[in-house]
Amino acid sequence: MKVGVFDSGVGGENVVAAIKIAIPKAEVIFRDDRAHLPYGNKTASQILELMTPIMQTFTDQDQVDAIVIACNTASTNILDQLKELVSVPVIGFVPMIKPASLMTKTNTITVCATPGTLKSNRYAALKAAYARDLVVIEPDCSDWAEMIEANKLNMARIGDVVNQSMRAGSDVIVLGCTHYHWIEDQLKQLAGPNITIIQPTTSVIAELKRVLDC
Ligand code: DGL
Repeated sequence: MKVGVFDSGVGGENVVAAIKIAIPKAEVIFRDDRAHLPYGNKTASQILELMTPIMQTFTDQDQVDAIVIACNTASTNILDQLKELVSVPVIGFVPMIKPASLMTKTNTITVCATPGTLKSNRYAALKAAYARDLVVIEPDCSDWAEMIEANKLNMARIGDVVNQSMRAGSDVIVLGCTHYHWIEDQLKQLAGPNITIIQPTTSVIAELKRVLDC
């Protein structure tokens, strides 16, 4: 069985690693688009134009059985259009607003995501459905994907976001960009025991196993 995984860059790599551990018999084919990173500053139509040939390569050349869009920016903006391009199941990464809403005891959550994700209709719909009565902090993480891609972490910038979140009384931080998974440990250290940091790799893999029937 073959699984295609897409992200603009290094965010997809830890998703690939997690899939390989969870489904060792799967052959995982990773495609990125580092030439056009960051996706987080692009419009939905720009992303669709860039990703259309990649989706076709996944099905025509790689002949995958399922595709994981390990990019919240693409998933929140164009997941339905991407599904229409191919005949295999397509699973996206989207910010875990519903789980965060069930976990928070302070009714305050923080969502770290790209500008493109925060502006998307899908994200607005998730907030309307699950976070209507919550305070949702959306710190400026617009340079994080490039910073993490270049492996040049500015811990002061990252610390500012955690502090902003703590000051607001947030007790859950949602990682809404797969690039940020790479700094999950650092964020946990900065945030301490009173803030829970969540991201959806485990539930995406559960859904992948379901569609692959394995
Ligand atoms: N890793 C991607 C995401 O989950 C996007 C990073 C970028 O290219 O801006 O949103």
